Amino acid sequence: MDRGYRPRRSCLAVPASSSRFLAKARDLPADEVFLDLEDAVAPAAKDEARENAVAALRAGGWGAKAVAVRVNDATTPWAYQDVISVVSGAGGALDVLVLPKVTSAAHVSWLDLLLGQVEQAAGLAAGRIGIEAQIEDAAGLAAVEAIAAASPRLEALVFGPADFMASIGMRSLTVGAQPPGYAGGDAYHYALMRILVAARAAGLQAIDGPYLRVHDAEGLRAAAASAAALGFDGKWVVHPAQIPEVNSAFSPSPGDYARAVRILDAYERATTADRRGAVMLGDEMIDEASRKMAQVVAAKGRAAGLDAG
Ligand code: GLV
Ligand code: MG
Repeated sequence: MDRGYRPRRSCLAVPASSSRFLAKARDLPADEVFLDLEDAVAPAAKDEARENAVAALRAGGWGAKAVAVRVNDATTPWAYQDVISVVSGAGGALDVLVLPKVTSAAHVSWLDLLLGQVEQAAGLAAGRIGIEAQIEDAAGLAAVEAIAAASPRLEALVFGPADFMASIGMRSLTVGAQPPGYAGGDAYHYALMRILVAARAAGLQAIDGPYLRVHDAEGLRAAAASAAALGFDGKWVVHPAQIPEVNSAFSPSPGDYARAVRILDAYERATTADRRGAVMLGDEMIDEASRKMAQVVAAKGRAAGLDAG
């Protein structure tokens, strides 16, 4: 199955235990919304959250957003029932499942097989539901290349900073911000770059995790700009106020988009009409590598609704 391209500049977390938040999320301008059955839901509320998620999916009204559910992780007693209830109850309205705390390729293989069974039983197209795998501890990061290649359903790898910080013993309680006292640059760089390289090697998107200080717009802007500059496709958001900032950080500027379109046009002309592999565009030399870079920027610009003008 061709998985297609889904923009994921902003991925909004909504606890499925809260009907109020679920209702509000429908009209927000996030590219993806995921109904959370995992860490935002207390163990005693898991059953009710599952029912809420199915009802919210069936009710529809999610517009052009990618619609996801985060199930509990593969080592919990809730995970199999999450998948069966959500996919058999509302699989036609669901694009992807987010699988948290993935520590080995076997977690993804388990979900892939179970999804295949539930899709068949529910009369859904085989392979319809995609998977996003959260990499959020030392074991997951050490196995990230194998995880990224574990299933054709995979669409994205997602960094989980909160669990990751706990797993490696990072001395900070502020999720997504730099740990106080760290003098080595960006404390997340190694994890982010490893996830990004593993994702790209397997043809997947790479998504940064949340910035939990929701009223610190400056800190959010810096964290989002840094992940976007590295090459990430998007970032989680946990509050409606974070969405515009994050959408803008992961969209190319109108100037960059227009330049990318000019590069693609000029290179197309050069290689076909003039049969040349490298040409000047203004004062810059462009070649096949420039075309590839321009293609990425142009695809992100189109997804962000930019117009080359
Ligand atoms: C998200 O799940 C995180 O742990 O940061
Ligand atoms: Mg987590």
